[in-house]
Amino acid sequence: MKDYKSIIASKIDAPLEKEEIVSLISETADDNFGDYAFPCFKLAKVMRMSPAAIAQQLASQIKTDDVIVKAEAVNGYLNFFINRREFINDAVYGVLSQGADYGNDTLGSGKTVCIDYSSVNICKSFHIGHLSTTAIGSSLYKIFTALGYDVVGINHLGDYGTQFGKMIVAYKLWGDYETVKRNGVAELQRLYVKFHQEEVNHPELTDQAREWFVKVEQNDAEAKKLFDMFKEITLNDVMEIYDRLNVKFDSWNGESFYMDKMDGPLQMLRDKGLITESQGAQVVDLKDYDMPPFLLIKSDGSSLYATRDLAAAVWRKNEYDFDKCLYVVAYQQNLHFKQLFKVLELANLPWAKDMIHVAYGMVSLEDGAMSTRKGNVVLLRDVINKAVSKSLETIIAKNPNLENKEKVAEQVGVGAVLFSALENSKIKDITFTFDRVLNFDGETAPYIQYTTARCNSILEKAGMSRLAKIAPDMRALDNAETLTLCKLLASFPQAVKDAADKYEPSIISGLLIDIAQAFNRFYIAHRVLSDNLSEQNARLSVVEATGITLKKGLALLGIESPDKM
Ligand code: ARG
Repeated sequence: MKDYKSIIASKIDAPLEKEEIVSLISETADDNFGDYAFPCFKLAKVMRMSPAAIAQQLASQIKTDDVIVKAEAVNGYLNFFINRREFINDAVYGVLSQGADYGNDTLGSGKTVCIDYSSVNICKSFHIGHLSTTAIGSSLYKIFTALGYDVVGINHLGDYGTQFGKMIVAYKLWGDYETVKRNGVAELQRLYVKFHQEEVNHPELTDQAREWFVKVEQNDAEAKKLFDMFKEITLNDVMEIYDRLNVKFDSWNGESFYMDKMDGPLQMLRDKGLITESQGAQVVDLKDYDMPPFLLIKSDGSSLYATRDLAAAVWRKNEYDFDKCLYVVAYQQNLHFKQLFKVLELANLPWAKDMIHVAYGMVSLEDGAMSTRKGNVVLLRDVINKAVSKSLETIIAKNPNLENKEKVAEQVGVGAVLFSALENSKIKDITFTFDRVLNFDGETAPYIQYTTARCNSILEKAGMSRLAKIAPDMRALDNAETLTLCKLLASFPQAVKDAADKYEPSIISGLLIDIAQAFNRFYIAHRVLSDNLSEQNARLSVVEATGITLKKGLALLGIESPDKM
């Protein structure tokens, strides 16, 4: 694709650096006013003329050619018209020639990005609160991979802490293997809740839990066996969901992995004079940065979540030599990561600047906020199952003859759930509503999937006539709907880069909605299948390019595209 902004900038004879001119040029919102616009307001001061007069003067000096065909002054703007037929041709064949690689880049080659996401807690159920970290992290994984980075997906398991002492006591008193095996994490949760209820009247349980936790720490055989069993049960449970969501990890090193890796980093902080004692605890004082102290060792000598994160950061840098290390974690942990990153910076570690907290908002269900404390957790599995069964109902109603209805319903239901976490700027709190995310005509994954399938079915219907290889008549594409659609298709590679730069998959999801809507307007306005095969082939190339782009975009969001719907 031509770099139109640079081409235009080279034609503008204004007293500004070329780069600045390029940065001022923007795409027009309305095709009637050209394709690109250069505002002359900034020049008014330098040139001591009104923006309107400047635009007039510059317009008269522009040399048009077969790339930039017209320049026009309108209200202080200099508007440019490009050769649209050539642009559409470039846009469409740009997509077709790259196929499934469209949007890929090599800009990340030789660079490594670590992404810490999903990071579930052992013995805790996988609930809707984990949807965003899982969906956003997995999408960023795919986006960075498409841009040529080496990506390391890390599930920093919450597999360490005093709660495991409590779990062991509860299991030994009230649990049995058969039930745990059968009911999985739900049973572990039940035991944990029971422990807390019983603890109120039986304080000796607290002491037993503490003793068992010490045994876990000391790698006592029985404690370890039970702990490993809890871990296995939990991972079996989440694995089933990860498989359905097509989410993968390269590392499962969680908190317990760092138990014997904390001393080095702690000593490093001590050597740099960063650690002070405060009421028997060891902290990094962050008063000067308006933050509470970063607590690293409690007065009883035990480590914390923060200590393990400190060790994990150092270990990851040594192991992967990352260019960036992302943490896809809810904004509730803003302070924790600000403190952690500040401590690394104070320790003069040059890579402290490469640590990024990718924060996101809360998900709640339409029928009330979800809260673990009150016990009304909404399991992610239940949400997915409901989305899939509702999709199946819609599919049966819309297309009763479709083959593989169950498989398509799974792709649609799962896609809808993932998309709900990827459609808005990630920091926004969202309310999940089944009817909205599953609406085939709304701004949803099913709508994009449906449009993608429509592209396929048009191509399929054209069938043999496409093989006739009749030269396309590109004049069939001289219209506003095709232009709008092709501009969106051409902007896809930049959207992928922007999504990576801003850690924001919603840049891609938003563009896919725009493309699907523009495609459907194009499709309504222009007959694709016709007796005029050269016109038909020109339009089919647009259909094919659209299908490829939508499918690729969905794949970067972790969403599958059924061939038929
Ligand atoms: N398990 C933690 C939680 O559920 C999230 C861990 C995020 N990753 C990290 N390195 N702190 O809150």
